[in-house]
Amino acid sequence: MPEFVVVANRLPVDLVRGSDGEERWQAAPGGLVSALAPALADRQAAWVGWPGVPDAAPEPFADDSLGPDVTLHPVPLDEAEIAAHYEGAANATLWPLYHDLVAAPVFDRDWWATHRAVNRRFAEATAAVASDGATVWVQDYQLQLVPRMLRELRPDLRIGFFLHIPFPPVELFRQLPWRREVVDGLLGADLVGFHTPGGATNFRWLAERLCGADVDDAPIGLRTASGQVHLDGRTTRVGAFPISIDSAAFARRGADPATAERARALRAELGDPTTVLLGVDRLDYTKGIGVRLEAFGELLDAGRLDPATTVLVQVATPSRERVDAYRRTREDVERTVGRINGEHAGIGRPAIHYVHRSLPPDELAALYLAADVALVTPLRDGMNLVAKEYVATRPDDDGDLVLSEFTGAAEELTEARLVNPHDLDGVAAAIADAVAEVGSDASRRRMAALGAQVAEHDVTRWTEAFLGALG
Ligand code: ADP
Ligand code: G6P
Repeated sequence: MPEFVVVANRLPVDLVRGSDGEERWQAAPGGLVSALAPALADRQAAWVGWPGVPDAAPEPFADDSLGPDVTLHPVPLDEAEIAAHYEGAANATLWPLYHDLVAAPVFDRDWWATHRAVNRRFAEATAAVASDGATVWVQDYQLQLVPRMLRELRPDLRIGFFLHIPFPPVELFRQLPWRREVVDGLLGADLVGFHTPGGATNFRWLAERLCGADVDDAPIGLRTASGQVHLDGRTTRVGAFPISIDSAAFARRGADPATAERARALRAELGDPTTVLLGVDRLDYTKGIGVRLEAFGELLDAGRLDPATTVLVQVATPSRERVDAYRRTREDVERTVGRINGEHAGIGRPAIHYVHRSLPPDELAALYLAADVALVTPLRDGMNLVAKEYVATRPDDDGDLVLSEFTGAAEELTEARLVNPHDLDGVAAAIADAVAEVGSDASRRRMAALGAQVAEHDVTRWTEAFLGALG
């Protein structure tokens, strides 16, 4: 039986049903799989998660791509549960609440009841899979109730929890009608990890105020379990563990001549502009896609950028398309792209190249190489791996990164051009400066520092720090 179990809302692969009824598995969206893959590779391991479509209940199966002894354990959800737990409580309540109310969170009792029942199903599935004394690592905001439920079912387990999104300011968290249940749910873990010290500090404060726990006041440092919460004779430690990427793998892809060749071809397809700007995101209202489009549009309006020589490529992966706020965001983004292109594109020469698809890794790497400036402007983001991927992929010290202050990445990538995404003038000025200075000595020095940061703090460090602290 598995000695190491990952529990996440999604399996690392999604079941896809073709129009002919044929079923196949494909990589799930987001950066979770690549982050956790190294931790699974050499162990008797299991991954418990939802297969991504309604009513799918395949038997557990081996996944050799993750390791010789890795088994995937599907947790089925029906249509109503997907609507109430995934689209409702997770993505229309918790997601906007934890991202500083970029959209208004919806508080719905029925959704929450289903959310609780689904968390229990995950806890039960995990309890049935884990070997005696196993280490279980529960992932992200969809499953915050699992640690407590699992602790009650299996007191022998060592349980870690990591939150991949921001933990909100306490004033916002306190709006949640089920706030005590969430904090208590997380306190079932031995170690609760956040991206930033601020998130960990907020959580510790809430554990004291909402659950009456005894807490220490040690400063929360990076990559150690520095905070302590004592409740009912148990101790939960908290810490900040900023996630990262497989930096060497991105660097290898960036240095591959085939990637460089494809990057050249992409630039030619774009009409060989002087400057290529790039955005890559899930199509999510937190990502500030509208902000960068508006800033780019204003620079074109003002004649500070010339659409004949500067183009913007925006790649947006479809995401959570049945949730209202996501539908509205897509409409807004597409309307803005249409307006700016209507005003500034030449015939056959768009100013903004918009792709509403996800791209294969090689194509993404070629785009990172082809882009002179990456625009990462979320209104709020737990980390933002795209910023790190862009920096890691580029073999030379050219390029530039405009990065929102409201990302976890900004706490590490301090040499980027940091911007407040609510300040349109500031974003526009940073884009204009990046375009003007790309390739300059100052810009190269900053890119070299960013490259060194990401190369040193890669995902293995994240995994080792978290699992080392979990013990
Ligand atoms: P989030 O987890 O909120 O989606 P991150 O930036 O942290 O945001 O991680 C997104 C991951 O998804 C990155 O690894 C990125 O390469 C990948 N990704 C984003 N957009 C696309 C796309 N259009 N095609 C392929 N991969 C994408
Ligand atoms: C973010 C979340 C992940 C989630 C991913 C994709 O990275 O932190 O938990 O899996 O987005 O979103 P989705 O809703 O498609 O699983």
